[in-house]
This record gives sequence, structure tokens and C-alpha cells, in this order.
Amino acid sequence: VLKFTKINKPKEAAVNLRIPGPTPCPEDVLLAGASPMINHRSVEFKDLIYRSTEKLQRIFQTSNEILILTTAGTGAMESAVVNLFSPGDSVLAVSIGSFGERFTQLAEAYGVQVVPLKYQPGTAADAQTVANAIQQNPNIKAVLITHNETSTGVTNPLESISRVVKAAGKLIVVDAVSSIGSLPLLVDEWECDIVLTASQKGWMTPPGLAMVSVSKKAWEANAHAKMPRFYFDYARARKFLQNGETPWTPAVSILFSLDLALTKMLDEGMVNVYSRHVRLAQKVRDGIKELGLELFADERYASDTVTAVKVPVGIDGKKLVETLRIDHDLVVAGGQEALSGKIFRVGHMGYVSDKDIDHCLLALSNVLPKFGF
Ligand SMILES: Cc1ncc(COP(=O)(O)O)c(C=O)c1O
Repeated sequence: VLKFTKINKPKEAAVNLRIPGPTPCPEDVLLAGASPMINHRSVEFKDLIYRSTEKLQRIFQTSNEILILTTAGTGAMESAVVNLFSPGDSVLAVSIGSFGERFTQLAEAYGVQVVPLKYQPGTAADAQTVANAIQQNPNIKAVLITHNETSTGVTNPLESISRVVKAAGKLIVVDAVSSIGSLPLLVDEWECDIVLTASQKGWMTPPGLAMVSVSKKAWEANAHAKMPRFYFDYARARKFLQNGETPWTPAVSILFSLDLALTKMLDEGMVNVYSRHVRLAQKVRDGIKELGLELFADERYASDTVTAVKVPVGIDGKKLVETLRIDHDLVVAGGQEALSGKIFRVGHMGYVSDKDIDHCLLALSNVLPKFGF
């Protein structure tokens, strides 16, 4: 049990933070992060990391080892590349948006030969095309894929894609940064080799930690992978974890927060967490359409953690986002890269309730007429 120092309660959040990460955190989760430091090479820390890892395994639905790394989501992506591959290895990179592109760039930066499989932004990947691409490129070692593309608000049908990847005997590396913990992802049943995420998304925890599950097949690949690595060396992390430690000084405060957030998620019940996300996402989509706005994503694959909305023609998207913040304390995200100014994105993952969505829709209904819409 963590003992909290006496500190002032944080004020009620000043804004409705509806970006797709960092996401709002419950007050007790924030307070847990303000606990006094402990020795990271102690029984207390060992208990903390084992407890957290065991809860993560329940949520990931896996018996794989889960490594907790002190890094951002991108660091976890990089960790997968350096731990599985050797320079010159070939991979298929499925990309449906900016984060898919990031995986491609990252792998290329390390000398991996990337066969790109790109989809139109707003659409999802499909198993048949992935199967065909693997057949045409039999030498690929792995498929890199984003489960939930945060830049476009699209969720890939991961289960069916994973089936064809596994049927072809390849590794599947899943960027689940904005999905797992909020959307079902059955790591063992879907045979996902690497599944990585980051604390600031659906985990109701501040940024600073990434969590990576590593399958038996991924460990086998790791044993032969020649890519240079040091900080992110999985084998070293595994060895230290056997002692209840991490190789380097971890973000202890964030781990205090994560530990409590995981308990709260399991107390709510993951079935309830998932259904809350489904219900609130539908509420956002319905509300957006009722306002006369158009959704960016193919609705069949619309994400239940983030909704992308088209900025109506003639409206300055950046000004719209700015006005929502200034007039209504509503913070939504703009579009990234080519979608900048063309869409805005509403995050609804983690610690989110009806009242947050009601406020968001009300603010939009108030501001849009000021833009002549
Ligand atoms: C799907 C996805 N992948 C990767 C990342 C990168 O995470 P980070 O910003 O923590 O490096 C993000 C962050 O938004 C994301 O949404």
C-alpha cells in the first residue's frame, strides 16, 4: 500500500482535454505519482513491478512477458525494431496513416528493407491484401501494423490480419499505443508477437512509460537479431525483471500512477471499460453527425478511442480548434501532416465519461455558428 505525503489536492481540471493523448487522469492516480521515492533496487519496487506486470498481463490477455520501459510510444516502436531484426532484414509495413508511416521510417532508419503497403487515409487495412502482399514478398520476416491509427481515427481489423500473418509463418508487430486497454486486443488468442503501448493513452496515466508484450517467437527472433541496441535491449530487461528490477532507473512516479490506474481498470472490469468506450464513441459520432459535420473515417472501422472530423469547407480548422479552447476550455487536436487544418480529432479514451462528451458537443454547437456553419 502506497503512503501519500500530504499535498494539496489538484484543482478540478481547468480544461476538457479531449486530445488523443496525453489523456486526463483520475485525481488519485495523479496523487499516487506524488508518492515519496523508493529504492528501485528494493523489495518494494520488486512488488510494484511484479504487481503492475501481472495486471498488465490480465488486460493484454497474455501469458507473455511484458516489459515496462521508461520511454514514449515511439521508443517502444524503436525497441521492437532493434530487438527483432538485423540490418537488411525485410518487413511488410502496413500503413493507414501517420503512425504507420512512422513505423516505416523508423525501420528504414535502422537499415531494414521495408515493403510498404499503404492505404488511403480514413480507410482500414484488410486481411486479403495483406495475405497477397506476403505471398508476393515471401522473404519478409515480419509485418508491422498499427492497430488503431490515431491520426485518422481508424481501427484496423487486427484479428483477421493477424490470422493471415500467422498462417504465413511471419511475426506480427502491433503498435497498439492508442488501442489496448481501451479496445479489446487478445494478445495470445490473436497470436500477436509484439504488442506495444504507452501510459498516456487509454491507461489514465501520465506519459513516461511504455509497455511491450513479447511472444515466444519474438524472443527466438531476438536471440538472432543483430541490430545494434543498448538502452532498449529486451534480453537485458528480461534478465533484470527476473529480479524485479529494470536495467536503468525507471520512471518510478509514473509506475506508482500506472499501478493504481490498472487496479481501477480491473475494478471497473475490462468488459465494462470496453463497452464504455464503444458507447461514448458512438455518442461522439452521433453528435458530430447531428451537428451536420462529416466523419473522416470509414464508419465501419471508426475508432472507439479517437474520432476524426472533417473541417467544413471554408472554415479555418486551426482557428476552430483555437476558438473551442479559448471560448469553452475544450482542447481537441488538429490534423497531422497532410491532414493539418482539414480535420480535427476528439479523443475519448481512458478516463472519459458522458459529461466530457456532452461538454464537447455543446461547445461545438456553440462555436460552429460563429464560423458561419
Ligand atoms: C498509434 C500511435 N502510435 C505511436 C504513437 C507515438 O507515441 P509517443 O508520442 O508516445 O511517442 C502514438 C501517439 O500518439 C500513437 O497514437
